[in-house]
Amino acid sequence: MGLIKWKKEFSVDIKELDNQHKKIIKILNHMFSLQGKEKTEKEIEKILGDLHEYIKEHFRTEEEYMLKHHYSGYDKQKQEHNHFIDRLCEFQKEYLKGNRVNTSILLNFVWDWFSQHILNLDKQIGTFLKEKT
Ligand SMILES: [Fe+2]
Repeated sequence: MGLIKWKKEFSVDIKELDNQHKKIIKILNHMFSLQGKEKTEKEIEKILGDLHEYIKEHFRTEEEYMLKHHYSGYDKQKQEHNHFIDRLCEFQKEYLKGNRVNTSILLNFVWDWFSQHILNLDKQIGTFLKEKT
């Protein structure tokens, strides 16, 4: 996987959510740029922690947004978010157990999930709001 580029098709037409998705890409690209370089345990721990924290914050924003606008697809979104966080926790657990984190596998997993989730589910939030107004 190379550096991720933001594309117009990822836009959900909600500025705040687009900006957060862009920030997630930025963290992933940062992780990507460190691949193959000598990293200290502390650095890996920090990046994993940052990624996890920011994604949780992003999901919170998205869920609050959906609730505020009585979005009908909330349950499905919440379910996917929770499932993703569980899997991210598994990566962290492995790391804390002392197993080396394969950043390539982690990057692929996170970006595969995010790109599909944005295109399939998040974009529907924007469409819903447009139809409502
Ligand atoms: Fe979402």
